[in-house]
Amino acid sequence: MSTTLADLVAQLDAFRDATLAQLAVADSLDALEAVRASSVGRTRGALNDYKAQLPKLAGADKPTFGARFNAVKVELEAAIDARHAALSASAPAAAALDLSMPARRQWRGAKHPVTIVLEEIEGIFRDLGFTIATGPEAEHEWYNFGALNFPPDHPAMDMHDTLYLERGGLLRTHTSPVQIRTLQSYPPPIRIIAPGNVFRRDFFDASHAPMFAQIEGMAVDEGISFVDLKATLANFANRFFGETKTRFRPSFFPFTEPSAEMDVACRICNGAGCATCKQTGWVEILGCGMMHPAVLESAGVDSQKYSGWAFGMGPARMALQRFGIPDIRIQYDSDIAFLEQFAQ
Ligand code: PHE
Repeated sequence: MSTTLADLVAQLDAFRDATLAQLAVADSLDALEAVRASSVGRTRGALNDYKAQLPKLAGADKPTFGARFNAVKVELEAAIDARHAALSASAPAAAALDLSMPARRQWRGAKHPVTIVLEEIEGIFRDLGFTIATGPEAEHEWYNFGALNFPPDHPAMDMHDTLYLERGGLLRTHTSPVQIRTLQSYPPPIRIIAPGNVFRRDFFDASHAPMFAQIEGMAVDEGISFVDLKATLANFANRFFGETKTRFRPSFFPFTEPSAEMDVACRICNGAGCATCKQTGWVEILGCGMMHPAVLESAGVDSQKYSGWAFGMGPARMALQRFGIPDIRIQYDSDIAFLEQFAQ
């Protein structure tokens, strides 16, 4: 290395410029620390080499170079500190990166159990030759009660059970009005199912809700008998639940005669008796019966020529059985932990 003052100062300035250039491209704290160590570092810093030249200079030049050396050292240290501050401020995320954190979850929507059950029931009845019909939720009193042979003083029409609207309107309490609407529009032979929501001012307990889904079914043709009804529904139950025991109990509805309710063996306890089946081993899933001649007549169908059967079933109750859910209310809770179990 040259020992003249001018040469030494030129080399010192070149070193300073090269170090500042390295600082400008140091893009991480690690890179910056490497530059610090190789330039102003106490043990490995190249700046020390210039200080080592001092004794070789002429006496008068020593203080001049010494001052110059100190100025470069102060400048470089300040530049390194400034770069350090800039890099720490701009890279906090990189510094805080926690590779042990669990990955972000991919949420996938799931169908509600009642929707799954509705779609399955529709599929089974489609296979059996039924078509889907619909009717309005806000219904006229006549379609909901009168046309279905309810006497005017029937308790179901009580304000406590039915949600009334203005001018003879109400929220339908069952899907049976779709029987009348369908027969008014299409001549027999006809086989339909009609899924939809119904409304009752029921209290909310383990098996009752104020709004729930129903599926109505109806078949009208010449010579239709109770045998067709029983065979179709037992066949349906086997398809829906897998081989299952069914039983028909006599019942009463104003719009069917004779009337029955169909039970399936409780799947939660396998017929042994539990809270869901109220210790009976059986669960009612639908009401049914032969359509009352008065109902056919009010829909404009000749009851001498035609006969028919109808049923109404509760898919929410069937979902309890199908999926082993102990309480119907959880289906209305919008509880993600419950609902996501049904993701397919
Ligand atoms: N509509 C009746 C109910 O809601 C069910 C039913 C439908 C019964 C059709 C017989 C025939 O309880």
